[in-house]
Amino acid sequence: MSNQDTMPVSKLTQTFDDWAIAPPDVDCLVRWLAADGDDKEMLYRAADQARARFVGEDIHLRGIIEFSNICRLNCNYCGIRAKNTAVERYRLDKEEIIELAFRARVYGYPTIVLQSGEDTTYSCDDICYILEEIKKDGPLAITLSIGERPHEEYYRYSGSGCDRYLMRFETSDPELFSKLHPDDNLEKRLGCLEAIRAAGIQLGSGFLIGLPGAGLEGIARDLLFATKLQLDMIGCGPFIPSPGTPLADAPMLEDRDVYYKAIAILRLLNPYAHIPATTAFDAIFKDGRNRVLTRGANVFMPNITPQRYRPGYQLYPNKPCIDEDGDQCALCTRGRVHSIGRKIAADAGHSMRPDWIDRVAAKPAPSLSSAGA
Ligand code: 5AD
Ligand code: FES
Repeated sequence: MSNQDTMPVSKLTQTFDDWAIAPPDVDCLVRWLAADGDDKEMLYRAADQARARFVGEDIHLRGIIEFSNICRLNCNYCGIRAKNTAVERYRLDKEEIIELAFRARVYGYPTIVLQSGEDTTYSCDDICYILEEIKKDGPLAITLSIGERPHEEYYRYSGSGCDRYLMRFETSDPELFSKLHPDDNLEKRLGCLEAIRAAGIQLGSGFLIGLPGAGLEGIARDLLFATKLQLDMIGCGPFIPSPGTPLADAPMLEDRDVYYKAIAILRLLNPYAHIPATTAFDAIFKDGRNRVLTRGANVFMPNITPQRYRPGYQLYPNKPCIDEDGDQCALCTRGRVHSIGRKIAADAGHSMRPDWIDRVAAKPAPSLSSAGA
């Protein structure tokens, strides 16, 4: 009898050593995703205990700057897809972005995330300039989240100070990926992820939980795929139907707890990963992000984007903090962390994966990175 057949939810905390021999399979994860009552609570508790044991009590803050909502792509689920003409578009200039990064220091965030639609107006040189100027002001970890770029650009970003990169694979099913992304394919996405890691950048990816057509089995497969990628950060959030998109009327999951159970399982399968309580959780539950932080997550991403731009960056409806500005989110964030009895990390919160130190040693020299420019 395999490990999975005998692995009831009630034995979850004892399983880490066993998994090295026989990791849970799709059927097992489907059962966990369907867990109810005491089993469900057990799953949440096990994830919280694993989080405490492997990544500790600290919550890492990453201030996010959504610097452009202009996007060349038409992902079927996304509220800022190119064809959505209802969106008022904006683009911050380089100096404005650098200025906002300085705000992150004032708020005490050791990391910023620079995120945008796939806006090719920012050239590779522009992005490198932004990274270098921000780094000149002192230590601040920088995560980029600007989508698919020619592979050689990732090496240049790395040489200019990019510490981490976030790009979700969205779904591990190649057919579903192509259906959802009319101008993209999964192979191309995975090729970019590989190049980012090869450039010596900490890698973050993840998927949309509950995409139409995926089912519990699809979620189970995505959980296993994310695990196989051995990611430094794993960001997943619920799919939320967005007006003005082809999926505007698609249903969400009936059992809303599945969204949380997926995060809990993610923690159990990836004990050392940084797992954010993604913003979309607040769109489906009041204080949803707080709950995720007690069910496996250890990262929170306060928004630094100036309030006037926020209504334009609604990838999904009901996004929180649309009427707030950076100051309010900074204050609110501290309150949230304290309300759940945790503390704010003082360090940059780099990868906690045991293999990360070897990867730092193997990081390509900057000369290699500029060779591809
Ligand atoms: N619901 C939830 N998340 C979404 N994203 C895009 N559109 C939606 C939506 N409708 C997520 C994608 C993307 C990330 C930046 O936002 O997973 O990778
Ligand atoms: Fe933005 Fe609470 S995190 S207002």
